[in-house]
Amino acid sequence: MASAYQKMTDAELDAALADLERQADELRALNLKLDMARGKPSPEQTALSKPMLDLLTSESDLSDQGVDADNYGAPDGLPSARALAAELLGVDAANVSVMGSSSLNLMYECVLHGYIHGIAGEKPWCQQGEVKFLCPAPGYDRHFTVTESFGIQNVPVPMREDGPDMDVVREYVEKDATVKGIWCVPKYANPTGVTYSDEVVRAFAALKPAAPDFRIFWDNAYAVHTFEGEGDELMNIFDALAEAGAENRVYEFASTAKVTFPSSGMAWVTASPADMAELRGAFAAMRVSPEKISQLAHVRFLKDAAGVAEHMKKHAALVAPRFALVEKKLTDGLADLDVATWTHPKGGYFVSFEGPEGSAKAIVALAKELGVTLTPAGAPWPYGRDPRDTNIRIAPTYPSLDELGQALDVFVVAVKLVSARLAKAER
Ligand SMILES: Cc1ncc(COP(=O)(O)O)c(C=O)c1O
Repeated sequence: MASAYQKMTDAELDAALADLERQADELRALNLKLDMARGKPSPEQTALSKPMLDLLTSESDLSDQGVDADNYGAPDGLPSARALAAELLGVDAANVSVMGSSSLNLMYECVLHGYIHGIAGEKPWCQQGEVKFLCPAPGYDRHFTVTESFGIQNVPVPMREDGPDMDVVREYVEKDATVKGIWCVPKYANPTGVTYSDEVVRAFAALKPAAPDFRIFWDNAYAVHTFEGEGDELMNIFDALAEAGAENRVYEFASTAKVTFPSSGMAWVTASPADMAELRGAFAAMRVSPEKISQLAHVRFLKDAAGVAEHMKKHAALVAPRFALVEKKLTDGLADLDVATWTHPKGGYFVSFEGPEGSAKAIVALAKELGVTLTPAGAPWPYGRDPRDTNIRIAPTYPSLDELGQALDVFVVAVKLVSARLAKAER
């Protein structure tokens, strides 16, 4: 569809450009220094978990169901932490390892395992020549960095409104034995906010991979991060696998990163009993046992899934107004111009914005010039290459509402000016 700028006469477009250049000059003169790049909880959000710091003192009993948190032991994590992690994902605690504080780190270790030692008795990926991972895009740039860092080829797969394009996924996974994995954020995906439909989850479970060492990296990072209403329901991938009679297909990850304190929490992985036995062997060569004092603090603070749900309501109260402001500013500023679309998530941390073809890098650069830092254009694509240069990730959680409002005003002017400049250049 033609944008309002494309439909203008030459004289109208010149007048609109002059007006937008003037608005940009006024914003530039304010010397703003605002940041909408970071998918981080705000200081008010992390403050919600500070009472956890008072729960463990030098007087505390540091044992959990017979395991001492203050010593080696329990290589799969504290029993209560495993029970909480399992309840949150709807899996059996026997198949859960709670490890360290970063789920990304665990994902890296699982890729490392495939690369160095090989999965399910297959040759290590480092000895198999070309190896590929599928990357639904736009997606989470740090996933793509993990596989890129091993020299694994990242292959983009289109994202749709209900998950990755499963025809494309099936074609690759079932016909190409060099495809060893796929990165998935199945709920409130980073950055689109999409939750995979039951049909997509079932299609994943029904895959017949050409490679026996193919695994789905199911990063359920935003499993409990609803900020609007009842939120989205994600079908349990292990239920779908059971329905399909498939096994040894999925590594699922999650963490408390955006529940309590990012980088200072608990992260976990769950998989089939056979896959977990193999991963445990790999982890055993890496560490004696995980950090458990933080696990103990977490289970005493959050208790169970109901406790997490209560806690997440407090996050939602802080996050929802920020997403509402994004929706309002973009609608008020852009809806009539037919220059852009954006997502309307009910949870997670991001809004995914699509501007005119060839605009994203220019919008991010102009916003930077006007004092607003955004995630680099292209970052949500493998190798930073957005083929149409349209996508921008908006991360509204960290700034205060005032700062966010100002940053969005700048963003809207940048989108309009770049769109008008592109319309002018087409003539
Ligand atoms: C999809 C996704 N997975 C993982 C992470 C990082 O999680 P962790 O801190 O547990 O490594 C993030 C952080 O933004 C994320 O968006």
